[in-house]
Amino acid sequence: MLFILILCVCAYIKGDYVVLPDNLPINKNTVTVSGVSSGGAMAIQTHMAHSSIINGAAIYAAPPYYCAMGNLEVAMESCMKCESDPGSINVLELYLITLNTASLGFIDGVNHLMKDRVWLFTALNDSVVNSEAVHKTRDFYLKFLFHSSQLATVFNIEGEHAWATNKNSLKDCNFLGKPYINNCKHDFVGDFLNHILMSPHNMSLIAPTPQQAKNLFKFKQSLYTPISPSEEYGMHEDAYIYIPEQCQKVQSEKHCHLHVSFHGCLQNDEVVGEQFFRDTGLNEYAESNDLVILYPQAHSSKLNPNGCWDWWGYSGPQYASNVGLQIRTIKNLLDRLLINVN
Ligand SMILES: *[C@@H]1O[C@H](CO)[C@@H](O)[C@H](O)[C@H]1NC(C)=O
Ligand SMILES: *[C@@H]1O[C@H](CO)[C@@H](O)[C@H](O)[C@H]1NC(C)=O
Repeated sequence: MLFILILCVCAYIKGDYVVLPDNLPINKNTVTVSGVSSGGAMAIQTHMAHSSIINGAAIYAAPPYYCAMGNLEVAMESCMKCESDPGSINVLELYLITLNTASLGFIDGVNHLMKDRVWLFTALNDSVVNSEAVHKTRDFYLKFLFHSSQLATVFNIEGEHAWATNKNSLKDCNFLGKPYINNCKHDFVGDFLNHILMSPHNMSLIAPTPQQAKNLFKFKQSLYTPISPSEEYGMHEDAYIYIPEQCQKVQSEKHCHLHVSFHGCLQNDEVVGEQFFRDTGLNEYAESNDLVILYPQAHSSKLNPNGCWDWWGYSGPQYASNVGLQIRTIKNLLDRLLINVN
């Protein structure tokens, strides 16, 4: 099957794995991220650490940047259940910490956030991450964006803790459980792609077309981790990338848009197989809109039995900064994909 791929990608095939290409026609000015739950927190961390590279973020059900302050108890109590004490997330304090972290060079300068676009989702009946936490994420981002219209929210949908999309094959929006991707009967993925990627560049989102199994590739994420063994800080050996055929050719015109999507807890390939990188609705838009979708993978371990991304410090106290081991891995992946784009 793999042999029918066009020439330039053929060169990269090694067994089941591809070598991550370094010559895709990617536009370096349209890099965006998304994620759900711990993956939403990871998307925010990656955005904050590298806002000079990333221009937009779509976040489902995640608290603001550095909410846990390196403490699991704070993560589970204040950041996830904050309804009982809505004041327990102090956005002003997180804002000041962020400014300080930026001034020390451990995240990019916050001026890079000024023109970015953010889309936030929380369902009314989310029993895992309270909606109030996501309202705080809104308040946090609004401190950095130039205009409030750069931030869009979906806070009024009945449903549970999940990535919300509109695929009929998925369970109803009120379902809580694997694969944590629900049919909420509205095209939220199209909405967020429009908001964070298309409308700021005056592009129109083209209707989704069927994804092609041959365009989903597995690669060795472990080649991009800063230290071995990477399992100790929650990075899986493998990860995935969806590259539509029209983005596989080496071309001078950089017409493709890189999007990084982070799964939530209990949502990596060890737990839900291929579901997160097949069923979120992203690949169909990748086909019709020239998107390259990177799906990094977290790994379960003793400190992190559910394979969550680190948003409380199991990988080390600097987990939320550009020296955090997980964020360094993501940066290495971005560098690889963008190295020949100038
Ligand atoms: C979800 O929450 C809304 C608002 O609090 C409530 O009106 C509705 O009954 C809840 N739905 C379910 C299924 O619990
Ligand atoms: C998009 O269009 C608006 C209105 O025509 C224009 O002011 C703006 O500069 C355009 N933005 C880009 C990125 O081309």
